[in-house]
Amino acid sequence: MNDAVITRAIEVVLPGEVEPDGLRLRTRDLPPPTDGRVLLRMDATGVSFAEQQMRRGKYYDQPPFPFVPGYDVVGTVVATGPGVDPAMTGRRFAAVTKTGAWASHLLIDAADAVPVPDGVTAADAETVVVNGVTAWQMLHRTAKVARGATIVVLGANGGVGSTLVQLARHAGITVIGTASARHHDTVRALGATPVDYRDPDAYRRIRELAPDGVDAVFDHVGGAGLARSWQLLRRGGVLVSYGTAATKDEAGDSRLPVLNLFARLALWNLLPNGRSAHFYNLWAGRRRPATFRARLREDLAQVLALLADGTLTAQVAAEFPLDEAAAALALAESRTVAGKVVIVR
Ligand SMILES: NC(=O)c1ccc[n+]([C@@H]2O[C@H](COP(=O)([O-])OP(=O)(O)OC[C@H]3O[C@@H](n4cnc5c(N)ncnc54)[C@H](OP(=O)(O)O)[C@@H]3O)[C@@H](O)[C@H]2O)c1
Repeated sequence: MNDAVITRAIEVVLPGEVEPDGLRLRTRDLPPPTDGRVLLRMDATGVSFAEQQMRRGKYYDQPPFPFVPGYDVVGTVVATGPGVDPAMTGRRFAAVTKTGAWASHLLIDAADAVPVPDGVTAADAETVVVNGVTAWQMLHRTAKVARGATIVVLGANGGVGSTLVQLARHAGITVIGTASARHHDTVRALGATPVDYRDPDAYRRIRELAPDGVDAVFDHVGGAGLARSWQLLRRGGVLVSYGTAATKDEAGDSRLPVLNLFARLALWNLLPNGRSAHFYNLWAGRRRPATFRARLREDLAQVLALLADGTLTAQVAAEFPLDEAAAALALAESRTVAGKVVIVR
């Protein structure tokens, strides 16, 4: 039920291209939720790689400055708009928002809210919202990797990477995971064989581990190394490219690295070598909202269930309160963390 109470929300604002300490806090009145919407009290949100790109103006389709970042959220419904089941009030949900979640309260479409199982903490659930959907869809929908296969996960210590390793291991897949040496124990504990991506011989080392090539490579780095990822594949193998981390600090149009990437993938797909190259985009298909939402709900529910039954272990790198979002972002950018930096209420 819409309780017609105006809510004061505290929001973190990205005012322009700034260092993390340039983030600002503001307080704003939120109106009651309108048709089909709910008011969520944030319990946990998180720092994604996207915010590192957005603060540099480097995310492919970010909104104009100023805006409130925050790619995903776990929160409790405190008011429902007309047409929404009032029983949602008081219950905890997760949603992928792309922006807007670094806030004490936010309005979202009820249709985007996916229930969080009882017994899972908000911070733990937060680690598998955008990361879980991304990892699940790349593994099971894009690459369709089979039990018994061998894959390479670049950045196996990262938010998406650490979830992808765990999902793959659960599905009976052998994983080689790249990470800097400081994270090798973590990567091993997740069930993957670590390789140091800073080692000039990293690709030769992967070849030693998988002499016949691998069934899939998941590459969010792009740049010059993408060709080496492609060369790791055996016949029938699949390259899933899903980011351009390598070009985060390059000057110029934020769309160019992605467009270059598309062109390379398209070219490789024309080669008669039995391999295929895909770009995974979580937002693909959103022009058909019902299908898009149904797929996202199904996949996020599966990942949350695996977290609830203990199959997945949440990788929380650190927790910060909302008013320390700048410190949270700085830590996430320090290239020292394993898992997800979480912001809590
Ligand atoms: N296409 C999509 O729909 C989609 C959806 C979600 C996420 N993503 C992408 O997924 C990637 C991971 O996101 P996340 O939130 O999981 O990030 P994260 O937690 O910050 O992890 C980033 C990982 O990438 C590594 N890394 C960062 N910069 C690198 C570079 N220049 N060269 C090699 N490795 C580098 C990091 O290693 P160190 O710890 O050693 O720095 C870490 O393992 C991002 O590129 C993001 O854009 C794409």
